[in-house]
Amino acid sequence: MESAWSSDLHRRTKEQSAMSLDRVEKLRRASELARELHFTGDLLHLMWGFVQDAVLSNPNMAAVLLRLHFHDCFVESNGPAYDVPTGRRDGGVSNVSLADDMPDVSDSIQQLKTKFFLKGLSDKDLVLLSAAHSIGTTACFFMMKRLYNFFPGGGGGSDPAINPSFLPELKSICPENGDVNVRLSIDHGSERTFDKQILQNIKDGFAVLESDSKLNDDIVTKSVIDSYVGLLNPILGPSFEADFVESIVKMGQIGVKTGLQGEIRRVCAAFN
Ligand code: HEM
Repeated sequence: MESAWSSDLHRRTKEQSAMSLDRVEKLRRASELARELHFTGDLLHLMWGFVQDAVLSNPNMAAVLLRLHFHDCFVESNGPAYDVPTGRRDGGVSNVSLADDMPDVSDSIQQLKTKFFLKGLSDKDLVLLSAAHSIGTTACFFMMKRLYNFFPGGGGGSDPAINPSFLPELKSICPENGDVNVRLSIDHGSERTFDKQILQNIKDGFAVLESDSKLNDDIVTKSVIDSYVGLLNPILGPSFEADFVESIVKMGQIGVKTGLQGEIRRVCAAFN
């Protein structure tokens, strides 16, 4: 027979789960509306409120939303569909200092490779996951050093890896001393479709982000790019979409808790 205590706990758990589900449902409806109405400022504000609420009530919510959001973005831009493993064993701590070892846009190729390696990701994963930049935009903020101050010690200048025919366009979108919040597409000419054009762009000097361009600086990452966009790809080459799915699912498993650590949520948006 159920005790009063356990039935109270049961009731409260059900209420909490319902509240979390309600929040997720509101978020889903707001994002659908926003898409239909092409993101008006008011709706963005409304959605931002829901997201903040959800993240404040549960620090792990940001990571959950991010994984599902990436999936939906890629699929909606013609990318491959894949199952997002949601039964992850997660911890209950969220601390900004834990993000100190994230890759930086100005990292050397060696730093990028090492940071990925330390998370169990290979050079091939580095190339495939960087290809997620097939969609989306960057703020000019991340371009200024690359365009106007690439050489340290006051040498100034632009990154010589940028194709000379592309440089004037980048400079006109992000002028020196201009507004660093202006945004530009990361995948030149193909920013709305998830495809491997980003790899061709990187190979040809049309990378927008410095970290993407660095993939040309290493014999291994360069050969991974070539395996997808080289002349032999249509005959012998691997499938970009299938390999991307493998890498992104692998990325979702970084640092997953095991054994008695953390917990698998019964409801993905709430602690058990
Ligand atoms: C190699 C390490 C990486 C670096 C240094 C890097 C850096 C950046 C930077 C600087 C931006 C622009 C941010 C902004 O202005 O708001 C960006 C955007 C983006 N990144 Fe990465 N990134 C990396 C890896 C990844 C990975 C692994 C993924 C996903 C699998 C990813 C997906 C995206 C997407 C979708 C955007 C566009 C966001 C938008 O449109 O608002 N990136 N990245």
